Amino acid sequence: MKKEQLSTINESTLSMSRLNKILNILLDEITQMEDFERDQPLSWSMKHMFSCSQISKLIAASRGLDIEIAGITGAIHDLFLIRTGIFEDHAPKGGPLVKDFLNKFNQTFGKELGYLSEKEIEIIYQATILHTDKTNYTKDEIVELTKDADALDRVLHGIDIPKHYIPRYKAALKDLKLL
Ligand SMILES: [Fe+2]
Repeated sequence: MKKEQLSTINESTLSMSRLNKILNILLDEITQMEDFERDQPLSWSMKHMFSCSQISKLIAASRGLDIEIAGITGAIHDLFLIRTGIFEDHAPKGGPLVKDFLNKFNQTFGKELGYLSEKEIEIIYQATILHTDKTNYTKDEIVELTKDADALDRVLHGIDIPKHYIPRYKAALKDLKLL
């Protein structure tokens, strides 16, 4: 799904069935967890999952990237942190969890809602394992988008960010024509 499809939402709704199912699955998981001894509270994980996903879609639209894939990445990039409550190394450790989650999604819901391709799963995997490296830049636009959206979402929730996050959220604001 690309930018130009946003302009036709009066005639046809956005195709977000895969993302919406993934959000429901993650929400089910989160609501069954107990919120103790976590590096970040579950309430943050839940808020961030939804808002980072939505922000990722807007940035994707502004950059002409796939809106649903960006939204899925925004929703799932912190999967290790969501499931364990452990912040340290949550990006690299989240990669295999994300791949496993998306392959199971394909097996269970692919036929009904549409399969995520191997290439899409690989992109989401890369964005997950690299998203905490806000300093370096890759050639993959979804990877970079996820870093930018992650930073902007923190800013919008009023959370302090380290200095090296600043170019990230500003890049997003610029593309959204807010800067
Ligand atoms: Fe995040």
